[in-house]
Amino acid sequence: MTPAIALDSRDPRPLYVQIADALATAIESGELAPEARLPPIRSLAGELDVALVTVSQAYETLAARGRVVSRVGRGTFVAPRHAVDEAPFARTWEPSLLSRGERMEGVMDRLAQATAPGVISLARANPAPETFPMAEFGRAMQRTFADDPPEAMQYRANTGDPDLCATLAESLNARGCDASAGEIIVTSGAQQAADLIASVLLSDRSVVASESPTYPGTLGVFDARGASYVEVRSDADGVRIDDVERVFAEYRPRLFSICPIAENPTGVVLPARRGKAIVELARRYDVVVLEDQTGWTFAYDAPAPPPLAAYDVDGRVVMMESLSKSIFPALRIGYLRVKGALRDSIDAAKVRTDSFTSTLTQRALWRFLRAPAYPRHLKAARALYRGRRDLFVDALARALPWADVAPPQAGTNVWLRLPPRLSTQAAFDLCAREGVLVMPADPFYPTRSGPPALRLSFGDLNDAALLESAARLGRALAQP
Ligand SMILES: Cc1ncc(COP(=O)(O)O)c(C=O)c1O
Repeated sequence: MTPAIALDSRDPRPLYVQIADALATAIESGELAPEARLPPIRSLAGELDVALVTVSQAYETLAARGRVVSRVGRGTFVAPRHAVDEAPFARTWEPSLLSRGERMEGVMDRLAQATAPGVISLARANPAPETFPMAEFGRAMQRTFADDPPEAMQYRANTGDPDLCATLAESLNARGCDASAGEIIVTSGAQQAADLIASVLLSDRSVVASESPTYPGTLGVFDARGASYVEVRSDADGVRIDDVERVFAEYRPRLFSICPIAENPTGVVLPARRGKAIVELARRYDVVVLEDQTGWTFAYDAPAPPPLAAYDVDGRVVMMESLSKSIFPALRIGYLRVKGALRDSIDAAKVRTDSFTSTLTQRALWRFLRAPAYPRHLKAARALYRGRRDLFVDALARALPWADVAPPQAGTNVWLRLPPRLSTQAAFDLCAREGVLVMPADPFYPTRSGPPALRLSFGDLNDAALLESAARLGRALAQP
């Protein structure tokens, strides 16, 4: 029996997606049982008064999602239960399976339990304290008290110190954007930037397309808004444009989220031509893009490509950056660059949340960013991290000859893919037993499940600790 399928010409989803979604619902509810035969393409097309190709695309979509299998000469059948579970696509569309706020559940406990004297932690992606510009930032702070009038410390109902906003806009323009101070909103860290965007754009079950794996801090914000995820496939250069297009066309997401530079956890830098193509596709399919540019200052082998915002013509690309890694986390300063229709809603959300970010810190930061100490600081920090990356990746390659360790092009994380027969959990336990803490992969996957892997963060460890941690990893994972 054919389940009821109501096609709606006002629905933004293409007809084949509407048909695929209706059949997927019938499969999920049990109305169409495992192994049940779907109606022949010709008869369903006749029944729904649509072209044969529309039904055939719907069946292909269901097959890609792992919901059906086609058997040559016999027809299309609901996938047997185990095939649905094993299908790679089953994990890309599971809105109801994710409960909110649990992204890091279990992980922090496991890390705390495994922490003991002598343990080396590759689990926390902390910047190196020896890079923190204490004296220079201290001077900027003193000058703020000495030179700014008392009124500067008054309540401010605005969304950022105008001088700091102008400096941040200038730095974006030096990277190919056309930003003005009025488009910058200073936030309390990138975490708040993500939260403001999510609060304005997402509601329950809004579809968020995301690269995978990606930074879990932002995913946690989306989780809390009840987002449904669709994962975009990547290759060695970051998200694949053909897959971005497939996902945009098929799912019509509200938002596409990406860290184009210093992708946390993989360290991949997305080539400029892909960034440009994403913006063009976002325009074609009416998707808002949220790009996190955190870490662009620590691109090692070539200057960081321009932000995606550089290719934006209609304000659909929202950019955020944290200064936690490039200066120090105690600043709690990040910012958003947003223009057009979204700007006013974000302004209002910021005022609602915390009125404004500390003007005292913003004024000192503005002075620091304009001082010669800032580029000197970046250069020294980049050189330190590059040295640590080279040493660590080299030591890992020797300690884990089976592993294919890609040196991160930016940032301070290495993504270690595990052989399929070794689970992330088992690898975590083996490493903990050898006295090295690692970050399990699951929180980095939007749907919280994906191939086994570990994130290894080297930023805050000196050379001796890095060599020792690689040796311990070698012992722990010698025969995967
Ligand atoms: C991609 C990315 N965005 C943002 C952050 C943190 O931002 P904040 O400390 O400003 O909340 C991190 C920290 O690891 C990160 O990797």
